[in-house]
Amino acid sequence: MSNGKAKAYTNIALIKYWGKQDEDLIIPSNSSLSLTLDAFYTITNVSFSKNNQKDRFYLNKQLQNNQQSKKVYQFLDLVRKKAQTDLFAEVTSYNHVPTAAGLASSASGMAALAGACNEALRLNLSNEELSALARRGSGSACRSIFGGFVEWEKGNSDSSSLAHQIESNHWEDQLAMIFILVNDRPKTISSRLGMQQTVKTSSYFPIWVKEAEKDLIIAKNAIAYQDFEALGKVSEANALKMHATTLACEPPFSYWSPDSLRAMDEVRTLRQQGFSCYFTMDAGPNVKVLCQKNDAPAILQELQKEFLPSQLIIANAGPEIEFLERNVSR
Ligand code: DP6
Repeated sequence: MSNGKAKAYTNIALIKYWGKQDEDLIIPSNSSLSLTLDAFYTITNVSFSKNNQKDRFYLNKQLQNNQQSKKVYQFLDLVRKKAQTDLFAEVTSYNHVPTAAGLASSASGMAALAGACNEALRLNLSNEELSALARRGSGSACRSIFGGFVEWEKGNSDSSSLAHQIESNHWEDQLAMIFILVNDRPKTISSRLGMQQTVKTSSYFPIWVKEAEKDLIIAKNAIAYQDFEALGKVSEANALKMHATTLACEPPFSYWSPDSLRAMDEVRTLRQQGFSCYFTMDAGPNVKVLCQKNDAPAILQELQKEFLPSQLIIANAGPEIEFLERNVSR
């Protein structure tokens, strides 16, 4: 039997990944940039053994059915091929997400699974190679291998599409992200499906790809100069451009709910009042507010006038993947 255990933190993109050039290998159409966060993470243990009759996946102590386990099983097939083994695995995952947050994260989940498999099967992958492997489970997972600011270079092959940390002199430690959890969630379209529809049908998609590459350069410069206003501005604009692509789909769709609009409006109002903060949104209705750590308490206090305390969570920059234990016996 061989065991591996890893802990990976989630990440939120400031310059979004939206659209794939290769669906099977999960190679994106544009490079992206994210901030790894400390508040949400996944701990995963995987054990390969000849005693296992088939793969099993437990999430927060619940055995998942085949549909819920599909991506995990596909990932296990991939690593078995890489490690040239036919042993089945038991995967036990804990998602540490504050209750009712509705923030199930494929990024931290797939990164932790990749890390646990790397340990269990002694694949001896470097973190960059591990990031390319995690990408095969879910694109954004490749960025969760690293801490702080992370760039995912799109590349053009399985081995060249991977993430690395952006040197920032620990500037990320001065930043914070406040999550506004929106209750009235509309029926969600997964990011996988949403980006598929966008690539296939959105007339704005080619423009998005060009804009995202330009925004990435601006964001990297902002990080290099530790210019918060420039980073916030380009992040917010980039998120809006990503969401604009979905409105131009056939049929059109949107991840926004009335409360998302209310939250975005609140951030704009706070900015007019002199608070330095910017929003971003992913494939769901929650709104995330980027600000400087020193300003976070005051901004939180303002947001509490509009939203319940239980809807607001502060996260700080998070670390890279951690390998927790290795245990191989025969
Ligand atoms: C909007 O990584 O969940 O959060 O690669 O199909 O599994 P798949 O998609 P996923 O997409 C994340 C999209 C996003 C933007 C981002 O994180 O960059």
